[in-house]
Amino acid sequence: MTFGIPREAESVGAGSGAAVTAVADVRPAAVSGGTAAGSAPELSPAPTTAPGTGPADGSARARHTGEPHRPGPPHAQARIDLAAIRANVGRLREAAGSAEVMAVVKADGYGHGMVAAARAALAGGATWIGVAGMQEALALRTAGVPGRLLAWLLTPGDDWNAAVAAGVELSAGADWAVRAAVRAAHATGRPARLHLEVETGLGRGGACAGDWPALLDTVARAEAAGSVHVVGVWSHLARADEPGHPGCDRQLAHFRSAVARARRAGLTPEVLHLSNSAATLTLPEARFDLVRPGLAVYGLSPVPDRAGPAELGLRPAMTLTARLASVKRVAAGHGVSYGHRYRTARESTLGLVPLGYADGVPRHASQAGPVLVAGRRHTVAGTVCMDQFVVDLGDSPAAPGDEVVLFGPGDRGEPAAQDWARAAHTISHDIVTRIGTRVPRTYTGDAPAGTC
Ligand SMILES: Cc1ncc(COP(=O)(O)O)c(C=O)c1O
Repeated sequence: MTFGIPREAESVGAGSGAAVTAVADVRPAAVSGGTAAGSAPELSPAPTTAPGTGPADGSARARHTGEPHRPGPPHAQARIDLAAIRANVGRLREAAGSAEVMAVVKADGYGHGMVAAARAALAGGATWIGVAGMQEALALRTAGVPGRLLAWLLTPGDDWNAAVAAGVELSAGADWAVRAAVRAAHATGRPARLHLEVETGLGRGGACAGDWPALLDTVARAEAAGSVHVVGVWSHLARADEPGHPGCDRQLAHFRSAVARARRAGLTPEVLHLSNSAATLTLPEARFDLVRPGLAVYGLSPVPDRAGPAELGLRPAMTLTARLASVKRVAAGHGVSYGHRYRTARESTLGLVPLGYADGVPRHASQAGPVLVAGRRHTVAGTVCMDQFVVDLGDSPAAPGDEVVLFGPGDRGEPAAQDWARAAHTISHDIVTRIGTRVPRTYTGDAPAGTC
């Protein structure tokens, strides 16, 4: 079911809640071998941007929905399957055993829409939501997302008072953070709820072994004074995506001894947490009381060399599509895009896809990124530009307006986000998260708003 609009094919959401009848298909006839080839395929269903499921008010995408309506389908869209997110969280709950699930929705829900992803994750059984920055946490609260919420990447300039007042739980891995939390507690009259971050080997945030005892003493004093409450102790794994790597065992051992030291300092954390998606699915001993999966919530495999989403019981939630902006027949030897890194081997049809690196299509996937057009796989021809890239369609019939699928769950034989990750020498986190604000998100499979 599509959320918000009864029949997608009949109306286009204007973002203001108005529904506007879609215009007729006025695309030119298809190009095939230099001649028009029959009628163009039907329009795919027109999307709607679901009210209340986009990012918090004021974000670029929320503003986008308020712009004057331009009739016709958008030139590109990321379709988000919220039912898949719910089911993925259900699968993660199973994998987590007795541990609770914190769905990580930072970075705009890994590009899927932070508020929509959080609501779907809670509906799927997550009992916590995790974000990096305080602004993300506050935006979730502003949008009315309830429940336990942790933010872990904080700076002295953040609005600690607002976060404590909003019941956001906060990470502290250094003295300055504890001091900021104490000040916020005094300002708001509420104890700050802290999760102490210990460095166990990732070399990122968290207190190193040498600083941990002093941090614990500071926190224990603040807790005794009623300014803070230590809710958790946490860390993050460096190599969970390499199951069996000895580094994971070393980090686990560090973590256990840091927790033991915290207990000796008189702290009684309610939750210990260490696991991302990969550890949730492959490292049972790292699950403790709470797991923090992100990628797997969105249906992507955190261990792509070992297992795909389906083998892990996951379903990718994002489908990224565009419509061909132009189609033309060119001679053999035609240079394509900046630097002419691609030349047609023979007379051929070039399709122009109106998505570029400003939209998150990695420039590193030049000459390599896969797409599906009319049921056939093609590869990016030449350099990915800021707003567009070209596909050599050979002799396949094609017309402006035809759908191009960059990635999705694979139901129609389309590439996966992981295929783009391989093409761009990166990870699938990077592929979905980078999809930019010019690409409207549309939502399917939602439960009624406000049910979480
Ligand atoms: C602290 C922390 N926990 C959990 C996650 C989720 O990781 P993943 O998306 O690999 O599951 C992240 C993501 O980078 C993170 O930074």
